[in-house]
Amino acid sequence: MKNVLTQRLKTLPGPMADFIRQAGMLADEMGLPAYLVGGFVRDLLLGVGHFDVDLVVEGDGIRFARECARRLSMRLVAHGRFGTATLYGRAGFKADIASSRKESYEKPAALPTVSCGQIKDDLSRRDFTINAMAIGINQHSYGDIFDFYGGRDDLKNRVVRALHPLSFTDDPTRILRAVRFECRLAFRIEPATMAWMRCAAREGMLERVQKHRLRDELILIFKEHQPFGVLRRLHDFCGYGFISPGLTYRRAWMSAYAKIREAALWFEQNLPHKRCLDIYVMSMCLFFSPLSLRRIGDAILAYAFHKGEGLRILSFKTHAGPVERQLSKKNLAPSHIYRLLEPLAYEVIVLIYALSTKAIIRKRIRDFLLIYHGTRLHVRGEDLAGLGSRPGPHFKKVLTGLLYAKVDGKVRDRQEELVLAKRLLERS
Ligand code: CTP
Repeated sequence: MKNVLTQRLKTLPGPMADFIRQAGMLADEMGLPAYLVGGFVRDLLLGVGHFDVDLVVEGDGIRFARECARRLSMRLVAHGRFGTATLYGRAGFKADIASSRKESYEKPAALPTVSCGQIKDDLSRRDFTINAMAIGINQHSYGDIFDFYGGRDDLKNRVVRALHPLSFTDDPTRILRAVRFECRLAFRIEPATMAWMRCAAREGMLERVQKHRLRDELILIFKEHQPFGVLRRLHDFCGYGFISPGLTYRRAWMSAYAKIREAALWFEQNLPHKRCLDIYVMSMCLFFSPLSLRRIGDAILAYAFHKGEGLRILSFKTHAGPVERQLSKKNLAPSHIYRLLEPLAYEVIVLIYALSTKAIIRKRIRDFLLIYHGTRLHVRGEDLAGLGSRPGPHFKKVLTGLLYAKVDGKVRDRQEELVLAKRLLERS
């Protein structure tokens, strides 16, 4: 196994492999036992790519991280309160570094009390056996695996297994994580683990945990490759009462998500110069849309979703219906379409496009994105001033009027824009 893992570590992207080797040498110098841990080890054993390195040292993790940053010229962000630090490599990867810890939970669903511990203690407080393995990186232990809880067997048998019966009472967010890993890896949750999860859910643990912790896990679900597969499983398991009363799983979500991905791909291919779409936010819009506006607002507040996420979820709820109704009308001027769609975020527009079954709506949205939205005026504020008008709020009105005229093809070049600008200024 040691040889296999040493080989696997060599196949990592160059800068990451170099970092791990050099961090190991530095740990030797500082006399610190150091290990790769968590999802990194799981994914290395599975042979799937993992983007971030997770390191634990038996000793002062922040001091070790500072030394890594200094010697290896990496950027460091220390999280003193948690005794952890993040290093950013120039090649774009990041490495989380922590001190190995021992945890005890005084109250269910609360944050644990933490003290220093050895690697075995550190692994024993983790969520699932498949995430509770470590690989040594010191010279004498390089490539050695530390698997105290049967993680390798569970990886082989494709099983998600918690380490102990109180795992979900200690940390109910692990209920969401179990379902997420099960779906992502196509594993199955082991029966005893399932029983512990059900027990914690029945005892209302999901309602007791801090909402922002659940929010972070929910967002990770929305960022999965098949979020609605995870959400279906979660619903079978404990419903969505802990998110919002009355919210239930919709069968149509699966096919809607396929349409979202298709539309997002179209957007990316046809509008490569635009910013990337947040596909996970589109999934969130869809997920919350069956709720009333008030309930959505309550959920956004309770979970403290980030402003950008909350606003787009609310915007989809309020605008999707009216915009669709308007866009299906006959004889709509391009400027009317522009006015309807321009204030909306790309995620909301593309979601309306993805879900609409009406060819006219889809064509009008495509036209907006490909043609109208890129309309630019030659005339600017200075030109209006040059026509003898004093700058003021009416400039904005005139420029907007000009833009709509341009979108409608009523003015084509600078000369025509100036003629119309003059007329609009006289009227304003
Ligand atoms: N962990 C845990 N309990 C949690 C969250 C995390 O025990 N509620 C532990 C697990 O050992 C996990 C590690 O912390 O592997 C890192 O957490 P995170 O980065 O969230 O998970 P990954 O396993 O790396 O998963 P992903 O592939 O989704 O990044």
